[in-house]
This record gives sequence, structure tokens and C-alpha cells, in this order.
Amino acid sequence: MNKTFDIGIEALSGGKQIATLPQGDCISRENTPFDAAFAPSKDGKSFYIETFGCQMNVHDSEKVSGVLLARGYRAVNSPAQAALVLYNTCSIREKAAHKVFSRLGEWRTAARDQGKVIGVLGCLAQQEGEEIFERAPWVSLVCGSASYRRLPELMAELESGGRRVMGLDLDTEETFETEVTRRDNPIRAYLTIIEGCNYSCAYCVVPHTRGPERSRPSKSILAEVRRLADEGYTEIQLLGQTVNSYRDPSPRGWNFVELLRAVAEVEGIRRVRFTTSHPNDFTREIVAAVDATPQLCDHFHLPVQSGSTRLLRAMRRTYSREEYLEKISWIRAARRPISVTSDIIVGFPGETEADFEDTLTLLDAVGYDSVFSFKYSPRPNTPAREMPDAIPEEEKGRRLAVLQGRQRQIQTARNEKLIGECFEVLVDGRHAERGQWAGRSTSNRVVNFTSPRENLLGQYIQVQITRSGPNSLVGEGST
Ligand code: 5AD
Ligand code: SF4
Repeated sequence: MNKTFDIGIEALSGGKQIATLPQGDCISRENTPFDAAFAPSKDGKSFYIETFGCQMNVHDSEKVSGVLLARGYRAVNSPAQAALVLYNTCSIREKAAHKVFSRLGEWRTAARDQGKVIGVLGCLAQQEGEEIFERAPWVSLVCGSASYRRLPELMAELESGGRRVMGLDLDTEETFETEVTRRDNPIRAYLTIIEGCNYSCAYCVVPHTRGPERSRPSKSILAEVRRLADEGYTEIQLLGQTVNSYRDPSPRGWNFVELLRAVAEVEGIRRVRFTTSHPNDFTREIVAAVDATPQLCDHFHLPVQSGSTRLLRAMRRTYSREEYLEKISWIRAARRPISVTSDIIVGFPGETEADFEDTLTLLDAVGYDSVFSFKYSPRPNTPAREMPDAIPEEEKGRRLAVLQGRQRQIQTARNEKLIGECFEVLVDGRHAERGQWAGRSTSNRVVNFTSPRENLLGQYIQVQITRSGPNSLVGEGST
């Protein structure tokens, strides 16, 4: 299978990172020893899946692919070759939703002419439901993430001649666990530990599209981590909209820290990442666990959204600027230097110049290593949609540019200080034309480097940093 994946900007939350240095190219799974044993069936139906949005979606697509492969479908590399074309969608901002509808528009006549089945999965499916059939009558399948366990049943309905099928239940206790998962990333394995969200941030569609929080039993998580280690994975990324709200539903009732420690102890696992942490559930114990356990990566993605307590209240974020900064002080007091990154929204309704200034000063106060920043986008079924004092688009754009400019200076200065240091880099790509390898440090920094050695994909290499940019470091690999 000539599947490629992008090693570029971390699509942690589907947002924009400030890009300066080119962010890498693609590597082929065929170059790696990890290619999973999913020989496509010769006569099965073909499918193609395109994913929009966050890592939760990326991993859901891997699981959906697994479900289809287990049913005898085979994966192909382009929609043109596929009998079944699936879009796993995002609706967190209006732009993301538009993109999906414009992709669907490409099938207006071709779906029928070419006899293809078009399906919409994920957040937009859950949000728009039947409306999708109205807007794109050539779509046959609409299924939200909380109903993926019903996918085989829905596929069977379609196979036996059903014209339109829908899975939109949200009131489920279940988490989406699959017998087979087709992993597209040979270096880093994703693993969902908690689905849905119990918060109700005023701007956010996720509680509506992904439903209430459901944690997965620790035993099943650990079994999957062991399987991944046996397959050759050394880096695991635990996923959840609010990953640190994890609560083991089984009788042993582990909290997030207990789970982290157990995952880190699995033989063969050298790096454990987790995202996204909610500041409200972020404890000193998490910092202590990371500080004491080298396998737990020294990076927290801790979205603040705004630096103004007044605005945080309006956003229903459940913490103040001061409480957030106190948590940052625990991180800064650790013995290991720990990288902190964030998500920020500008132009939320009623955001004053003073509120925005608070966000800018927070950037300085924290010293983030990276920030995903967004213009507020009104979403259906969210309280913020009805709030007065909308900020004009132009002003949102101005604030975004100012924020990104300030953050860029911060990153430039922070990265300059790393020149001369040595990082252990897990190699995940190659820039052939530049003769460089690319990878990540445990702090999730992008490191590009030269090396006289060959076949470095998947290996851990010590790299001495010689140059820096706002988004990445450049160095020389050890021989
Ligand atoms: N408008 C803009 N940004 C949003 N996010 C979530 N909802 C919205 C919205 N309506 C951002 C938040 C979140 C990230 C995943 O997307 O910053 O952390
Ligand atoms: Fe959305 Fe808030 Fe839940 Fe994050 S914590 S998924 S921003 S509602």
C-alpha cells in the first residue's frame, strides 16, 4: 500500500501554527519496517477515506478503515479508484465545514455517473444530520463519531440496496474500539482513552458533535499499548478532547496519572504523549509524574483560549487567568524543562482591546513554544452564537496577525537559546532535496538535521543544535 502521510505542521487541533521554515515532506510507509499485515482482499469493495480536522479524527479514520478492512473492503489511494468514498469531517469552525461541502460538491453528478457511494462521517455529520442529504442528495451515508460502532450494520444496509443510511445516536455509553485498526503513521501510534466532552465552552460544538465524556477501561488501553509495542511502536499518543479528565470506568478506577504511569512502564515504549489537556483538570500530580518519568514526554498542550479572566468567564472556561498562570508555575518549577503549547481564540463576542491586551501579556508571561490561534467562528447550537457585541471580521483578522507576530518573536527568542544543546530526536521523515532528516524531540520540537548515516526512519538520534527558526531547529546528528 503506497500510503503517505504528512509529517508537516502538527495538526493537533486543526489550527494554524506560525509557519516559517518549510515543514517537511512526505514519507512512504513502504520505506518502513512497520507496514501492518493488512493485505487487501482481492475481490472486496474498494474504499477511500479523507480526513479533516484534529488528531481524534485522524485516529477515528484509522479505526473506521480497520472496520472496513475486517469486512473485506480494500483501501485504495484515490477517490477515483474507490467504490466507497468517505469524508471524516470537522465542524469546529465554519471554514472547516465549508471545505467539506465544497468537497461533496465535486460529486454532484459524478457519484451517480460513476456508481460511487459517498459517505459523511464525523462532526459535520453529527451536526447537520439529515440536512446533508438535503444539501448533497448524492450522499448515501451519514454517521457521527458516537455511532461508529454501528458502521458494519449501516454498511450492510447499504450493501443490501439501502439508498440512505444514518447513524446519529449520541446517548451511548460506548467507546469506539475496533478489532483491527489500520495505522497510517508508522512512527507514532494514536490511542483514544476518552471520548466526548463534559465541558460546555460557549463557542464549542464538540459537546454537541461528540457527546458526553466516556473513558475507556484501563485494561483495554494497556492491552492495546502492549500490542503496539509488540508491533514495533515506541511512541504512543493518548488522545481525548479533555485527555486529563480520564477516569477509569472499571473497578480499579485509575485516574489519569495512574494510567500514565502504567502506560509508561510497558516494555518497549520510550515516549508517551497526550493531548489535549484541560486546564481545569490539570494537577500538580501530572507535572510530578512527567518530571519523574522519562518516558512521559516533556510537553503539555494546555489551551488557554484567552488571557482575560472576564472573557474566560464569558467563554465558560471554568478558570481564571491567575489560576491558569499558577498551573504554569508548577510546570516551570519542575526539574525537567517542559514545553508548553496552547490554543487561543481572538475576537470572541465582546472581546475588548483590554481583553486582547491581556492575551498578549499572557503570551509573555507563559513563554509558549507554539500556539494554535484562531479567529472566533460562530457555530450552530452553541451559546456564543447568540451573544451580543460580535467583533467585525476585519478586526478579528488584525488581532490574529498581532497575536501571531508577538508569538513568533517569543518562539524565535526561545529557540535561539537552544543552539548548542543536544536533543534526542525520533526520526519521522526526510527532506530529500535538502539532504536532511526530520523528527521530534520529546518536547515535540521539530528538529531537522544532517547525518552521514542511512535508514534513520523510526530511530532515536542525538542531535546537536546549530541553528534555529521560530518553528524548528536545525542540527547535526551524532555518527
Ligand atoms: N471558533 C474558533 N476557534 C474555535 N475553537 C473551538 N471552537 C472554536 C470556534 N467556534 C478552537 C479552540 C480549541 C481548538 C481545537 O479550536 O481554540 O481549543
Ligand atoms: Fe470544546 Fe471546551 Fe470541550 Fe474543549 S473543553 S472540547 S473547547 S467544550
